[in-house]
Amino acid sequence: MILKLLAIGDTYGEPGRKAVEQHVTRMKRSGEVDFVLCNAENAAGGAGVTESVARELFSVGCDVLTGGDHFFDKRREVEDYLKKETRLVRPSNFPKGLPGSGSCVVECKGVRIGVVHVAGQVFMRYHFSSPLLALDEEIAKVRKDGASVVLVDFHAEATSEKWASSWYVDGRVSAIVGTHTHVQTADERVTAKGTACLTDLGMTGPYDSVIGAEKEGILNRFLTQIGGKKEVATGDVRLCGAIVTVDGLTGKALSIERVQRKLEV
Ligand SMILES: [Fe+2]
Ligand SMILES: [Fe+2]
Repeated sequence: MILKLLAIGDTYGEPGRKAVEQHVTRMKRSGEVDFVLCNAENAAGGAGVTESVARELFSVGCDVLTGGDHFFDKRREVEDYLKKETRLVRPSNFPKGLPGSGSCVVECKGVRIGVVHVAGQVFMRYHFSSPLLALDEEIAKVRKDGASVVLVDFHAEATSEKWASSWYVDGRVSAIVGTHTHVQTADERVTAKGTACLTDLGMTGPYDSVIGAEKEGILNRFLTQIGGKKEVATGDVRLCGAIVTVDGLTGKALSIERVQRKLEV
């Protein structure tokens, strides 16, 4: 069984959710993709994810949602939901004791797909524990749960850390894709061992902005060094990510293709 997996980069506010709704609906209906992983760390007003926003993204065809360092920005609005919805995944290497899980397994066309989510340590605002050790743990967990295909969302700032991590899991996962920077990279590749890699999927949201937020407020922050209001921008909305084609039996990636589509209004 050949499967097409769409991984969507950081979905930013309502504009980003609209792009997900439009394109995921179309791509699933046409058979262009079978499974959708969506990073939702900025989906609720640019910071965090809530139960209602997660439900909305699932209802338009997302199969698994991942978070990032912003995952708990609206903690009270997501905490209870986390206890009942295992397809909403947060970075595994947050401090022990926080609610939620760093991986899940879902079935798609008879294939068990494991999603693993970790955050990096370089230039990140929180001190996450080792993402490499977390990858070992979570990969073992989803394999034990019968996953033949494994997809990793590595949420990190530094390209070097993401590249290094892709070699660490080479041949052990179907794909490792990066999130967090909101800027898509052009280094997609499938390794000799069958792992598809892309350093960053890019942002799904408004591009007439500074990585999703209104330009004026952010420029003022840089000019004055004083934190002002951060508003979700609205113009030039796009969905960004990648489509990975995998063999469901062996879990090997066959190809990876970057995706960038405008929201049609
Ligand atoms: Fe983000
Ligand atoms: Fe992030």
